[in-house]
Amino acid sequence: MLLRGVTTTLSRSCLRSPVSRDIRGLATALQQEPSHPDIKTAVPGPRTKELLKELNTIQQADSVQLFADYDKSIGNYFVDADGNVFLDAFTQISSVPIGYNHPHLLSAFNDEHNVKALVNRPALGVFPAIDWPERLKRVLLSVAPAGLDNVATMMCGSCSNENAYKAVFMWYRGKQRGGRVDFTPEEMSSCMVNQAPGSPQMSIMSFEGGFHGRTFGALSTTRSKPIHKLDCPAFDWPVAPFPRYKYPLDQFQRENQQEDKRCLEQVADIIEQYAKKNNPVAGMIVEPIQSEGGDHEGSPEFFQALQRLCQEKGVALIIDEVQTGCGPTGKMWCYEHFNLPTPPDFVTFSKKMLTGGFYFRSEFKPPHAYRIFNTWMGDPSKLILLERVLDVIKKENLLGLANETGQVLRSGLLNLEKEFPHLMNSVRGRGTFLSFNAPKTDVRDKIISKLKQNGVIGGACGELAIRLRPALVFQPKHAEIYLDLLRKTLKEI
Ligand SMILES: Cc1ncc(COP(=O)(O)O)c(C=O)c1O
Repeated sequence: MLLRGVTTTLSRSCLRSPVSRDIRGLATALQQEPSHPDIKTAVPGPRTKELLKELNTIQQADSVQLFADYDKSIGNYFVDADGNVFLDAFTQISSVPIGYNHPHLLSAFNDEHNVKALVNRPALGVFPAIDWPERLKRVLLSVAPAGLDNVATMMCGSCSNENAYKAVFMWYRGKQRGGRVDFTPEEMSSCMVNQAPGSPQMSIMSFEGGFHGRTFGALSTTRSKPIHKLDCPAFDWPVAPFPRYKYPLDQFQRENQQEDKRCLEQVADIIEQYAKKNNPVAGMIVEPIQSEGGDHEGSPEFFQALQRLCQEKGVALIIDEVQTGCGPTGKMWCYEHFNLPTPPDFVTFSKKMLTGGFYFRSEFKPPHAYRIFNTWMGDPSKLILLERVLDVIKKENLLGLANETGQVLRSGLLNLEKEFPHLMNSVRGRGTFLSFNAPKTDVRDKIISKLKQNGVIGGACGELAIRLRPALVFQPKHAEIYLDLLRKTLKEI
């Protein structure tokens, strides 16, 4: 479906209301989609192996799984260098919002004004385009989490978190200075040699299993796998336990409440310990569902209590929605499932939002220029695409679709869990943001690899989990194909 002259913005109420879904437009948009995966070679195929060899002569490329043919990939289907057609349930680590080559995105640069925004990439902090304030309001602020009226754009998820940390530290020091805005000569000279008081000791708390990126500050809060952190110096920042629930949730309520309590007590203790050792916790970063670390959920009650704790201790709360944001859980922002009584202080985003960035409360806006800054600070052409993505999400009620497809997937996964209890357990998640565990890492890896051979790209996370991260245009019919091929795969193991 081609939508022209897009000026519509997404109102919050539109995104959140249970609109009855009309997928006719969606069906038209995806009409060229294949009806099924089609695997012609072993995976990886011969051409893929050649390309991998070539790339490895230039860089370390062992992480590459497949080379995409982006001319041929369409909707929910990924076509590789060997012409194999896969149903994509992983979508470039969860970063393709409305499928490959969506016509509404393909037509975005037919417009000369948009082409000029693409080729004249500004240094946004100093020479933004005349329509930049209006574009920020129309696009990013139209889906801002309630109560967060400010937004900064960034390049990626890691630097969104990294810059949110800086804003937290500046806010914290501002409070310690009692509102004094000027810096002392001592602060100015000591920061140049990385010493206090100009470079003060302060910390950001994160959680066991959390993933917040790979730049230096972000990496100090990442706790998912050693391979991300090894050999890099890190800050002395605290880590607290994040709940590990037993499933199904309704059968383990008491145990899981105990687990929440255990974690919250430790959070409070650790904040005290760090205050005592003169390294106060200024901020805390947490994912609404820990993703890279293994799709671990926290209950709404856990998050409500965590926010209360932050408020009591004067710690800024950053919700990292880099992976969960932009709709896959059935709400624009996953934390909206938690009914927090007041907004968090920051919500960071990237991936499906196509631009990195963070929303924040105005008290976190630093009083000086150039403090949250770099050359590009994002890219206006990504907002042109994002505006169209949001338009499609609204017009085609893709949040409703995430819930609807999610229900099909969830009940299918629960059936498979009953059929293959030795291979699958702990089905969990929200919307299509779902996952399940295998009993062991090698079994999990085997399932993912055979699933790919059977025509589905799936993702692993943590030690045991297989995660689903389809695009928002994944329909019940795609869910059925996924479930059939997963069943076939489990039978083969
Ligand atoms: C929750 C979360 N935060 C931050 C990041 C880092 O984002 P990026 O890879 O764009 O730097 C990721 C990436 O997977 C993520 O899942």
